[in-house]
Amino acid sequence: MIKTNDKTFVLETDELSYVFHVNKLGLLEHDHFGNKIELVDFDVTPLKIKQSTQRGTSVQYKVEEDDSFSLDYALLEFSFPNKGDFRITPVLLKNKENGYVFEFTYDHYEIKKEITKLKDLPTPHDADDELVIYLVDKVANVEIELHYLVFEKANVIARNIVIRNKSKLDLQVLKALSYQFDVINHNFQLMTFVGAWTNEMHRQVQTLNVGTFVNESRTGNSSNRHNPLMILKEATTNFYYGAAYGFNLIYSGNHLEEVELSPNDNIRVQAGINNFCFDLTLKENESFNTPFAILSYSNKGMNGLLHNMHDFVNNNIIPTNWNKVARPVVINNWEATYFKFKERQLVSLAKTSKKFGAELFVLDDGWFSNRNDDKHGLGDYDVNKKKLPHGLNGLAKKINKIGLKFGLWFEPESVNIDSKLYRAHPEWAITNKGRVPSKGRNQLLLNLGKKEVQDYIIENVTKILKSANIEFVKWDMNRNMSDISFEDDNDGIFYHNYIVGLYRVLDTLTTSFPNVLFEGCASGGNRFDLGMLSYFPQMWASDDTDPLERIYIQSGYYMGYPLSTISCHVANSPSHQLLRQTPVDSRFNVAMFGVLGYELLFKEMSKNERKRIKPLIDFYKDNRETFQYGQFDFVAGEGSQIYKIQVYNKEKDEAIVGAFIGTINSLPKEDQIRVSNLKDDVIYSFDVLNVEHDIRKFGGNINAILPIHLNPNGFLVNTLANIIRLPGEKEHYIISGKSLKVAGVTLNPRWSATGFNENVRVMVDFDSRIYKVAPVDLEKLNAEKNKEMNK
Ligand code: DGJ
Repeated sequence: MIKTNDKTFVLETDELSYVFHVNKLGLLEHDHFGNKIELVDFDVTPLKIKQSTQRGTSVQYKVEEDDSFSLDYALLEFSFPNKGDFRITPVLLKNKENGYVFEFTYDHYEIKKEITKLKDLPTPHDADDELVIYLVDKVANVEIELHYLVFEKANVIARNIVIRNKSKLDLQVLKALSYQFDVINHNFQLMTFVGAWTNEMHRQVQTLNVGTFVNESRTGNSSNRHNPLMILKEATTNFYYGAAYGFNLIYSGNHLEEVELSPNDNIRVQAGINNFCFDLTLKENESFNTPFAILSYSNKGMNGLLHNMHDFVNNNIIPTNWNKVARPVVINNWEATYFKFKERQLVSLAKTSKKFGAELFVLDDGWFSNRNDDKHGLGDYDVNKKKLPHGLNGLAKKINKIGLKFGLWFEPESVNIDSKLYRAHPEWAITNKGRVPSKGRNQLLLNLGKKEVQDYIIENVTKILKSANIEFVKWDMNRNMSDISFEDDNDGIFYHNYIVGLYRVLDTLTTSFPNVLFEGCASGGNRFDLGMLSYFPQMWASDDTDPLERIYIQSGYYMGYPLSTISCHVANSPSHQLLRQTPVDSRFNVAMFGVLGYELLFKEMSKNERKRIKPLIDFYKDNRETFQYGQFDFVAGEGSQIYKIQVYNKEKDEAIVGAFIGTINSLPKEDQIRVSNLKDDVIYSFDVLNVEHDIRKFGGNINAILPIHLNPNGFLVNTLANIIRLPGEKEHYIISGKSLKVAGVTLNPRWSATGFNENVRVMVDFDSRIYKVAPVDLEKLNAEKNKEMNK
């Protein structure tokens, strides 16, 4: 809801208020963003920053009207340089008469129920209201629109800026971010999400010092180095308590987030398209709209904040036709075969995976042209008949006959030099005149800024999607950008034009094929952002499938992206990336907290590992709604050696907790699990998901209970291990919701060098457990107990 008395504006969500006012100088001063407040007659006097005297060397903005007001000390909704605000500013403009000096003051506002979509960038859907504030520079004849979309349920405000040149003079736009947000520092820390290929989304927390911190990407994509997600939290805020602001950008290209702490302890946050190699000229009556950014807040800890972000992505970002739709369990052949496969092997992999419970088979890279490695054939999507003698249609039919859906990998934005496409259209590749272009993964990128390239990709992908029953697409993109072209004036914003072109392609294809589930993939998380999610409902999160690494990578994503968007696969052990051996249950337990898939060779698993697959996939399917759409929380337990997360299904009132351990030691701490979100007055059962132990886990210890001495690595023990499995600990408790939330369950002791029975929780390195919490019918339970006693 938007309330105003024409001077003060109050944007309200279910839990938050966002307040600003127009001051007597026509500037927008920011007053509050946080939990809901009530103003008396729209009066912001108690809230606003007071400036009662001129301060030292500061610039008085309009001394004739207010001799004490300096832009530099104010909290502003929009700021401009060279008029006394010496902090970072979101926009930098230039024209022949005014140089770099522009000043924007309030003109009028508009409240809209019908939200206009951005013409070339994704717009979050189902906003409740839109507020547009029109600012003008009457001297330069330039207008700026500040747009605010209110998402009541998600507690999110989306913002963007439109710059419009009304002057006859050309207007140079050198920087155009999407918003600025000013707030008084309350001992804030900044959390950003940083990494690299196979090492994405690691949390980085820092105390803000006076100066500017920059989180940015210059790679042409939103990048695995610096995700656009950012959290500003009070130092005392943890996952469960305290205040935190969340920021993200609905954009997939070079982005920039700047956070400045000024010497007088005010913070300015601003973000948008990176101004790196950004130089746009607007002619008379031309305008430029920046991408939408989102802002949210919670004082219920970072869990509270991520609930907002998750709800928003599920309900307002991903295409509506995929909202709450169950995502299939995938089997993908990449780590199973890489480029080396024949139809026969794929069909056999599909058959086995069907028996284990998979639902969709994805054929990855290497199915076309002479693509037997990453040096050849990219760009030519003619089926390689040596590998697939019956073509895509033939393979899809066989896969469908097995009972699986069929999906296909593409990398339509790239080209190998050794390809028919490159030979026919070398001018479509991104190159810089006279230079030999640098390659990434042996390939060049096509210039998606060009309409003919966009049309070619649309046509080509359409043709293939129509050639067989393809119900899933994995859309890959495996290199960062270099050698950007400079062919005409448009190339002043080359990086941005690429993304706009990409969005046109994605929009056209996803609209033409609404029933095809598109999964975005850029070597894993190189383009995991709200822009891509506006077209593709899920993303391949990382090429790292080692469960220990993965749980931390996924945990980075959980801070801003819901589980329905995070594609996670179980792979063979040792992990191809880490060469680390891990238990099969852990690989599954990690991948289950997201959209589950497999990419492995079942035949390279031990018999015991194979036995686990079906029951675990069945468990996932039984609880799929909870894993994909349940409310996610990091579980309280600081100090514990075990890392815990949970999902809660509100409709079923059920929760599932995952507990993961790194390397163990011989003095385990007590472990307690508290489960949040449950109902106080409901009685629940708390059960560990069935655990079994391979006897080889115990090494020579088995001789302590055997009548004869056996070599733990010998033939007999290896044979016995396939027949005998030791039951793991039983943890079954009946407990009230109130107790489970407040006191929690104290688990059985972990194995500590000696003694084994069914009350010992044997956990080895990289082990894990899953606990299910579900309501019980107490009357039925008591009746059963009585029956048992009376027997
Ligand atoms: C990178 C992706 O992240 C992998 O999953 C796989 O599809 C390869 N590309 C194929 O080249």
